[in-house]
Amino acid sequence: MTGLVLGSGLGMLADAVAVEREIPFADAGLPASSVPGHAGRFLMGKLAGQSVILMQGRVHLYEGHSARDVTAGIRWMAEQGIDRLILTNAAGTLHPDFPPGSWMMLRDHLNLTGTSPLIGPDFVDMTVAYDADWRSQFKCAADEMGMDLHEGVYAGLRGPQYETPAEIKMLRVLGADAVGMSTVLETIQARSLGLKVAAFSCLTNWAAGITPGTLDHHEVLETGKLAAQSMIDLLEKVIGD
Ligand code: 6GU
Repeated sequence: MTGLVLGSGLGMLADAVAVEREIPFADAGLPASSVPGHAGRFLMGKLAGQSVILMQGRVHLYEGHSARDVTAGIRWMAEQGIDRLILTNAAGTLHPDFPPGSWMMLRDHLNLTGTSPLIGPDFVDMTVAYDADWRSQFKCAADEMGMDLHEGVYAGLRGPQYETPAEIKMLRVLGADAVGMSTVLETIQARSLGLKVAAFSCLTNWAAGITPGTLDHHEVLETGKLAAQSMIDLLEKVIGD
């Protein structure tokens, strides 16, 4: 079974799922999210004929939640029996060849949140956090569809403020291609549970200083909606295989 986490503005991915059960976060013992565009429920059902659990909405560190709270949904889905996890998020792009409106599959990440969901001597190997075979499958499927799918490094920061131009310059030096406020803790938790992980950033805007404009949360949500359809197509193709 596959678990799917839907990021900001990507809630419409849920429309592609034949829903069998709906479970509000509260019923699963999870905190509710306070951010617009994050509904806060699990949907169990079928996507392309395969069993999936969708996590619609997530809570973030920047809302004041702990790293344990942020990853509670991953542990809950693992208890329900998922063995594979697909994470999606909205992110800013730092890479001149990765324009807003396109998707970036995560090859690796920088956990710059300063925290971890793991407790005690859980020395999880993170050498291949994002499954290499699964990445090849997604890349092949995207090529067949003519979808513009990039691959790169995601920097996960605490937020909630967006970065300064100087911080974005620093992140580029560190090797980041995209920047956001989620995903890295979920991936760490999932790897600790032995789940196979893939993650995708919907690149909604240029990060600060890459172009002259400024950043707006509504623009982030709107671009996410427009790009969601190509990700639905990709997920259906790969999950249905
Ligand atoms: Cl530019 N930064 C961060 N941290 N998160 C974002 C973003 C930027 N754009 C969308 N989400």
